[in-house]
Amino acid sequence: MESHLETQNRDVLQKSFEEMISTLPKENCWGYSEDQYQYQGFWFTPRFLRGALSAQQQFQAQPTDIILCSSPRTGTAWLKSLTFATITRTSYNDSTTPLLSKMPHDVVPFMEFDHAQFSTNRHLGIPLLATHLPYSFLPRSIINSGCKLIYICRDPKDTFVSLYHFIAGRCKSQNTQPIQLDEAFELFYEGVSLYGPYWDHVLGYWKASLERPDKLMFLKYEDLVEDTVLYLKKTAEFMGYPFSSEEQQQGVPENIVKMCSFDNLSGLEVNKTGRHREKENNIFFRNGKVGDWKNYLTTEMAQRLDQRTMQKLSGSGLNL
Ligand code: A3P
Repeated sequence: MESHLETQNRDVLQKSFEEMISTLPKENCWGYSEDQYQYQGFWFTPRFLRGALSAQQQFQAQPTDIILCSSPRTGTAWLKSLTFATITRTSYNDSTTPLLSKMPHDVVPFMEFDHAQFSTNRHLGIPLLATHLPYSFLPRSIINSGCKLIYICRDPKDTFVSLYHFIAGRCKSQNTQPIQLDEAFELFYEGVSLYGPYWDHVLGYWKASLERPDKLMFLKYEDLVEDTVLYLKKTAEFMGYPFSSEEQQQGVPENIVKMCSFDNLSGLEVNKTGRHREKENNIFFRNGKVGDWKNYLTTEMAQRLDQRTMQKLSGSGLNL
């Protein structure tokens, strides 16, 4: 139970947070019940910003940690399941893995929300955790400890469409009205989206991956879809858990890919009917396709977003 002193400290921190947040630019958008606030160039809901700041103050990385980094809706849950299954492959098999009974966000915790769960995983020898924080927001201990990071990103058009459905789904379950897709599009285009501007999020990690390729692996969702086995092997190698030739002969990477496939994970009871925090798990599994934007964006919208992407990424050497 919390002591009197701890309660007082918490109240002081809470008050200074509320004071600080009240000075920030804000937008009421995307149909969220909460406003979004712009802090150091990125947009957050108050809860996420509080999580970001407390992670910066409290999180102590270990050199052995492996941190999965992403913007929302770019393949986070998939990357969590693939890396978790890879790292725990000698402890569990296809029929005993926790991925059968827990959704990926419950096996690999988020650094900015799930401190307690993360320490439990560390005790169990599972070095994985995840974050949606932009690179410039990462706690210093992550950079100083020399731990490894894996970033996943995705075509902005599919990221936008996926984010729109995610938020519209949330609004529906809370009986609130989502905004229209074209309104959301303009906000995303202007950079006003969760943890956005999306391109700035991607660029932060991209530049860091060029500077520290041994510490930061940069993945694209589309590449992972195109050849999941190849990228899983590269990821396993990067993490320091390479598949031996015997394992490769036995088809271990292929089995992991099959187990973590969209069809398999989305069909599991836990992911169809379970809940993660206040959200239904099935909201994390929509259709897992590349190019679904074609069903939602007009040619003009797609061209505008592509131009924006080219302009934002110009000179970086990255194409999305
Ligand atoms: P779509 O909305 O385009 O279907 P995140 O986990 O970062 O929130 O990303 C969610 C996106 O990843 C959703 O995209 C979701 O369907 C897709 N996804 C979830 N599990 C997947 C899997 N096993 N394989 C491929 N895509 C997956």
